[in-house]
Amino acid sequence: MEQTLSIIKPDAAAKNVIGKIIDRFESNNLRIAALKKLQLSKEDAQKFYDVHKNRPFFRDLVQFMTSGPVVVIVLEGENAVAKNRELMGATNPKEAKKGTIRADFAESIDANAVHGSDSLENAAIEISFFFGKRELI
Ligand code: CMP
Repeated sequence: MEQTLSIIKPDAAAKNVIGKIIDRFESNNLRIAALKKLQLSKEDAQKFYDVHKNRPFFRDLVQFMTSGPVVVIVLEGENAVAKNRELMGATNPKEAKKGTIRADFAESIDANAVHGSDSLENAAIEISFFFGKRELI
């Protein structure tokens, strides 16, 4: 059993496809261990994406992630980290396989519908960024 963090980004929340994305997780044996909708502040987004702070896209990324509400979800299941990444598809939706979340719901590499932890180690860090112990069931 693993846990991983998913973020449904502002583009997908604005398109009203939160439920459709959650259905992809649940239909593929990932369970919702915790979930909330919130508005990230600039400081939140900068801190969450700190590893990208020197990348040329960092400013746009922070601006985009604060442009509207997001839904943060802890997904739980067998191989949850890898399974979530498989369901999401490639970071750039134009390269994402048919039937993946990004191929079906995303427009661009910035507005790419979802974020998912890239390793078990980062999953633990990202989960604790958003959720306290008593929120994790
Ligand atoms: P995410 O999985 O949330 O992690 C960092 C985000 O930066 C990524 O999804 C993309 O939305 C965004 N991004 C923008 N440009 C790039 C790029 N060239 N390479 C990787 N990520 C990018």
